[in-house]
Amino acid sequence: MTAPFSNLTLRPATRRDLADIIDICEASFTGSEFYGPAVHPNRKEFHAQHVKFETHKYRLRFVAENSRFLLACDAAGKLVGVSFWQFRGGNPPTGWDTNQSIGSKIENALLKAEGVYNEHVALPAVDFARIRRFKGMKPKEIDAVRRIHLSILAIPPRYQGKGVGTALLQWGFDEATGLGLPVSLISSKAGRGFYPKFGFKKFAVVSLDGDKEYGINSAVFLWEPPALSGQWLVEDRTGAWRVKGGGRDEKAKDGGEHSS
Ligand SMILES: CC(C)(COP(=O)(O)OP(=O)(O)OC[C@H]1O[C@@H](n2cnc3c(N)ncnc32)[C@H](O)[C@@H]1OP(=O)(O)O)[C@@H](O)C(=O)NCCC(=O)NCCS
Repeated sequence: MTAPFSNLTLRPATRRDLADIIDICEASFTGSEFYGPAVHPNRKEFHAQHVKFETHKYRLRFVAENSRFLLACDAAGKLVGVSFWQFRGGNPPTGWDTNQSIGSKIENALLKAEGVYNEHVALPAVDFARIRRFKGMKPKEIDAVRRIHLSILAIPPRYQGKGVGTALLQWGFDEATGLGLPVSLISSKAGRGFYPKFGFKKFAVVSLDGDKEYGINSAVFLWEPPALSGQWLVEDRTGAWRVKGGGRDEKAKDGGEHSS
């Protein structure tokens, strides 16, 4: 790690941060298989449509249930990292549903209607069916596991290697430890070496359309609070990690694990 930030602060995202969040995610994920032609085949040729799709996607995050949109800022207040966490599986923990004011519910409904319009009228170059299949990639065995899911962790290239990713992850670890829940995520190829450093265990691989055409097969990780180590994961005789009581089926029951 190069010189870490001395004055890093974490704060919730506000709607004023939207443009910066989109810029950071674009910069961080450019070159990632999740943002590339496999999931967004017309991204370059129809860039304006892609930007509209992305903007809508991030606006939905502000009104997502049981979620935390957490940013990292440097001493001058400049955004240097983005994370998005969402509770999954079973009953949400107390206090995690603070986004759902009446205003948020209305905004959510309007955004969903806009999503239908985008899909059927406004954004013909976006392959919504493929994105749905991509978002649905997840191992069946964690469907029912109460957990916090990290669906975005993005640090812009010039701020990478300075401890920002670690600081955002640590926030999630503290939250998960306090709630007695594990943390799940699906990693891009770029993140595969990163998460194990923090104790995440790879327990499955999911692929888009059987990986035949698109070359997307993503590692799925789970982190257990140290005091609860072994509650959800077990190591088999080959050294592979499995979710306790889980099968190996890759098929998704419901969607929404991925950020793209
Ligand atoms: C992967 C990412 C989140 C890491 O964040 P970061 O702020 O650069 O990481 P940190 O500075 O906190 O690094 C912590 C440690 O992980 C290491 N590390 C960072 N990125 C790594 C990677 N991609 N693979 C392996 N190790 C990595 C650092 O060298 C450091 O190790 P050290 O403590 O032994 O020196 C960031 O580089 C990023 O946003 N990348 C592009 C988007 C992406 O791939 N997101 C995650 C995948 S879904």
